[in-house]
Amino acid sequence: MKPIRVLIDCDTGIDDAVALSYALRAPELEVAGVTTVCGNLPVDVTTYNTLNVLHLLGRDDVPLARGAERPLARELEDAAYIHGSNGLGGYEFAEKAARTPEAEPAWEFLYRMLRAESAPIDIIALAPLTNIALLLQKHPDALGRIRRVVFMGGSLRTGNPTPVATFNVLADPEAAKYVIGTKIPFVMCSLDCTRGSYLTWEELDRIRALDNPIARMVWQAAGFYIQSTKRENAVDGKKKGIDIHDLCTVMYVSHPELFQGEHYFADVETKGELTTGFTLVDFEDNLRKPPEDKTVLFLKKVDRAAYVQHYMDVLSSY
Ligand code: RIB
Ligand code: CA
Repeated sequence: MKPIRVLIDCDTGIDDAVALSYALRAPELEVAGVTTVCGNLPVDVTTYNTLNVLHLLGRDDVPLARGAERPLARELEDAAYIHGSNGLGGYEFAEKAARTPEAEPAWEFLYRMLRAESAPIDIIALAPLTNIALLLQKHPDALGRIRRVVFMGGSLRTGNPTPVATFNVLADPEAAKYVIGTKIPFVMCSLDCTRGSYLTWEELDRIRALDNPIARMVWQAAGFYIQSTKRENAVDGKKKGIDIHDLCTVMYVSHPELFQGEHYFADVETKGELTTGFTLVDFEDNLRKPPEDKTVLFLKKVDRAAYVQHYMDVLSSY
């Protein structure tokens, strides 16, 4: 089957790096380009990390463009407390990429790449949606050149870091509200779903045993992540593993058969004193929106064992 062409927007941090290690090697995917944005860390850090992860993966051939330095309408509140001050839990690259990002900013790069495609392609959005919002605001015709946005974020009844908001929405709620409001086909790989995609301690030991340079990066970065996310996602007071949210999101594109989800109307709270960043998903159709407004495919569940096996198969191929 022909690989699915995608563009990836990320804020490389730990789970973005793991997601890239899968996306750039999975036989089902072909990454046309990568863009970076502020989010987990400032954009200088996310760009440095993404360039060097691509170099580590042997993929200096994949063009990269640097994106927004701040959210659309507020200051960045980053997640260094989760990903470490260098964004990768202290992992240091033995070899640095020699190249620099493309000349144009991410939103112009995305537009150029989309125009060069013979058909609409997916944008996998693993970060706050600032770059995607800027692309659509500056180039409305890009809407017809994007097959769908596959996004890590949103939730049914939980949140991180607030009780109701997920990081990629909370960091730039205006961008999320704008992108969803365009009615672009939108896949919301929710926190409820990604929390079911955890890697267990035993699986992390299997990654460590692979002992190739990429598995070593994943293992070292995961070590920090275990400590920084220990309060999350515990079951019966025990931590069952670590959630690699962005990897789950990429896996939806390569293996949609592993996921359960439904289409709903959705919007984003941008002004709530307690609820900013909340993704309002109309699960019970209270608003009686017409079918054409139910543009968000909300992913609820993933077949965890199969998801992990697909990742292990790719990681062991390096
Ligand atoms: O809530 C988790 C998401 O926010 C992930 O994409 C993580 O990398 C951060 O960007
Ligand atoms: Ca991310």
